[in-house]
Formats: sequence, C-alpha cells, structure tokens
Amino acid sequence: MTRVSPSKPGRDCPLCPRLVAFREEWRAREPSWHNAPVPSFGDADARLLIVGLAPGLRGANRTGRPFTGDYAGDLLYGTLQTYGFARGQFAARPDDGLTLVDARITNAVRCVPPENKPTTAEIATCRQFLSATIAEMPNLRAIVALGRIAHDSVLRALGLKLSAAPFRHGARAQTEPAALFSSYHCSRYNTNTGVLTEAMFHAVFAAVRAEIDSAKEAPTRAAKA
Ligand code: URA
Repeated sequence: MTRVSPSKPGRDCPLCPRLVAFREEWRAREPSWHNAPVPSFGDADARLLIVGLAPGLRGANRTGRPFTGDYAGDLLYGTLQTYGFARGQFAARPDDGLTLVDARITNAVRCVPPENKPTTAEIATCRQFLSATIAEMPNLRAIVALGRIAHDSVLRALGLKLSAAPFRHGARAQTEPAALFSSYHCSRYNTNTGVLTEAMFHAVFAAVRAEIDSAKEAPTRAAKA
C-alpha cells in the first residue's frame, strides 16, 4: 500500500478519479515517465515557497520535478538564479544538479490534468497537500503564486476568503504566516501573447528578494513558537 504523508500524496493517490484515469493512460503510453503526483522541490526550511498550477504533461509529469522539461521552467529557474534562489546548471532534467537556495517549489494540483485544466473539485481535493506543505515550513516568509488558480488555492489553504486578496499581477498581500506575492503564470502562452514579459516576472522576484532580505533579522515562526 502506498503511504500518504500529509504534504505528499502517494504515487497511486486515488483521490481524483479523472486524474487517476489520465495517469493510468500515460503510464501505459510512456512507462519510463514519472506519471505520478509530482513532489515539492526544495527544503521545507526555506523562506520562499513558489506555487504553480499543476505538472505539465511532458514537463514535470515526465521528469518528476516541478517546472522541469517545459518552457515555463526555463523562465522560472532562470529568474530564480538571477535573484539568488537557485544555483547550479539548469538543464531541464532532474539530475542536472540545480539546487534551490532558501526556496521551494510546489503545485496547487500535484497530478497532471488533461489539457492542463484541473477542475474546481480537483483543486479543492488536492488543497490538503498544499495546506500541509505550507504548514511544514517553519521559516516561511513569502509565497509566490503563479496564476490565479494557484493564488486562490493558496488563499483558501490559508483559511482566507478570495476577497481578502484579489488576484492581480505584482500584488503583495500581508497574509499569515507569509506575505503572498501574485504573478501571472510563466507559461509559454502568457509570454507569447505578451501577458507576461520577462521584466514583469523579474519585478515580482525582485520584490520577493527584498522582502526576504528585509526579514533577515526578524524572528522566524520557528523561533517565535
Ligand atoms: N510545471 C509545473 O510543475 N507547474 C506548472 O504550473 C507548470 C509547469
């Protein structure tokens, strides 16, 4: 039997029947792929958590590491390196040696959804893992939500109403236990259509860097407890 930890669904997580069926289909088609819930990447003691939407079919669902193997990852990891949240060589493979620095990446939905579109019920069901992921990070200072779905799911995971912090690119909301920064998702679609430029994305992480650096001397949640 697969063990389910509060923050990490087991490989055969049965909670969303449509996603299970899609996973089974891709296990049969591509047996060498990961084809399972994609675990968070990075240490739980990080001060920054980045929340994406869901694994891309040929990206994280293939490689097993968030944002690894698709265009969205090129922009995300490049930006993280620019702002000191990642080091090493990003080569779009989980064994490329890239490490996150004081940062962790997860997804609002851990399994790949058909056409990259999780249903409202799937997002709500998977939120238990997002909530547990946030709860197990004692030093958390900032959360970056990539896209409206991630943003709304983070708010709900924090026990807040969506009206507490409406989604807007570049917004920062004072939430507990960490400030919530919102960005358009770094998908190829958003960058190709000009909804999100590299400069817009960098501006979000520059603000996050400043937030985390300014918090250097303040006591952490772990120290306060
Ligand atoms: N890859 C992920 O892991 N998450 C996304 O939101 C997009 C691509």
